[in-house]
Amino acid sequence: MRSLLFISLFLSLRSALAAAIVFKTRSIDVWRPRNYTAVSDARTASAIQEKCHRLQWDRLSVKAPDVTDQYTLAQLGRMAANAYALPGAPNWWNLDPIWSSSFPIGWENPIDGFRGHVFVNPDNTTVVLSIKGTTLNGPTSKADKLNDNLMFSCCCARVDFTWVFRTVCDCYAKHSRCDNTCLSESLVKDSLFYNTGLDLIGNITTLFPDSDIWLVGHSLGGALASLLGTTYGLPAVAFESPGERLASTRLDIPIPPEIITTGNYSLAPVTHIYHTADPIPQGTCTGRASPCAQAGYALETRCHLGTSIVYDTVGRLKWSVDIRTHPIKEVINRILEQEIWWEFGRQVPRARAEEDCADCDQWEFGDYLPPAENTTFVVQKILE
Ligand SMILES: *[C@@H]1O[C@H](CO)[C@@H](O)[C@H](O)[C@H]1NC(C)=O
Ligand SMILES: *[C@@H]1O[C@H](CO)[C@@H](O)[C@H](O)[C@H]1NC(C)=O
Ligand SMILES: *[C@@H]1O[C@H](CO)[C@@H](O)[C@H](O)[C@H]1NC(C)=O
Ligand SMILES: *[C@@H]1O[C@H](CO)[C@@H](O)[C@H](O)[C@H]1NC(C)=O
Ligand SMILES: *[C@@H]1O[C@H](CO)[C@@H](O)[C@H](O)[C@H]1NC(C)=O
Repeated sequence: MRSLLFISLFLSLRSALAAAIVFKTRSIDVWRPRNYTAVSDARTASAIQEKCHRLQWDRLSVKAPDVTDQYTLAQLGRMAANAYALPGAPNWWNLDPIWSSSFPIGWENPIDGFRGHVFVNPDNTTVVLSIKGTTLNGPTSKADKLNDNLMFSCCCARVDFTWVFRTVCDCYAKHSRCDNTCLSESLVKDSLFYNTGLDLIGNITTLFPDSDIWLVGHSLGGALASLLGTTYGLPAVAFESPGERLASTRLDIPIPPEIITTGNYSLAPVTHIYHTADPIPQGTCTGRASPCAQAGYALETRCHLGTSIVYDTVGRLKWSVDIRTHPIKEVINRILEQEIWWEFGRQVPRARAEEDCADCDQWEFGDYLPPAENTTFVVQKILE
């Protein structure tokens, strides 16, 4: 009887505490280009002229989501999940009332494939763009797969150097060598979601010129959030994303010169969230027998920008490494919204830089091919 009383007292106390749980923010320092128009101009120029981005960058302190707080992370996870759905759909996740004002983006255009959702708080001071990841079977699948294979494979999605099937570009130069110039050219094409994202964020900043803008996403969507956040100096949180660090150097995208000169990738305003049973962010869903290659994906990279919060589901929860743990639903239900003390009394493990991380070290990259291959043509063939 008495213990029952204690339990009910405990439960009511806990729900009282839960009611006080709120979305938390903190400030972080970012590098931000002074002029957003100049960013897209530099982007277009870099495809044609030399890689010269004469952009001016300012160092400033901005408001960002507090990624050390479990509740905040779970809300961001739900936002990332909602990029796959429309409000009211069975796979739509409820959010705090402060995010009730929202609108979808890119859903009217089935081909383009860049989709997401924008959440705005009541006084318009914070705007969150959530970017959709890969859909296996849907109108965006073809464009999704092309983007995955261009961004996260070592060399045009040759699953390994003996691979003879369909690739996304023709930069393979025999003997496990891959042509750098050819790669950069393939990656500047318009079919790349990154370019759509630049345009879209330009539009959002026009609509909300004084707001804090944050980017979130799951898988491919997280990688895009990260790359766009790094270019524009916007805080980004990415769930279960394949390594996008290689793409950040190859895409020839504007990123703060500080990152390039110091080689310190943790200067990017990005936090990655992933767990050890998901092979995709760790770049281990590879090899011809892997489920990724079987489905036509070459997700080989594993190094990320920014810092990473890694939940050790294999060590702590004895999960097996399995691609079925990749969906955002699994991450929210089984990790972010569980009461598990992951690390030294913390529910959110510490965010760490991925130091000494290397991608694709079995490949050699250099200038091996004659220039001016028409890569647009190859990319288009795949999309058709
Ligand atoms: C931003 O850059 C564009 C060129 O890329 C230039 O035309 C424009 O004047 C610049 N705006 C400001 C405010 O400097
Ligand atoms: C927030 O922004 C939207 C879109 O620009 C605008 O219609 C609305 O009036 C703004 N609300 C506030 C409180 O500023
Ligand atoms: C951005 O706005 C311009 C002008 O309204 C529009 O043409 C373009 O399609 C928009 N871009 C995206 C990605 O929504
Ligand atoms: C990289 O930058 C971060 C953030 O400023 C800093 O804390 C860290 O010490 C730097 N790492 C290296 C290796 O310089
Ligand atoms: C490349 O191929 C595309 C599609 O066939 C064509 O439209 C374009 O003009 C070609 N570009 C060059 C530089 O040959």
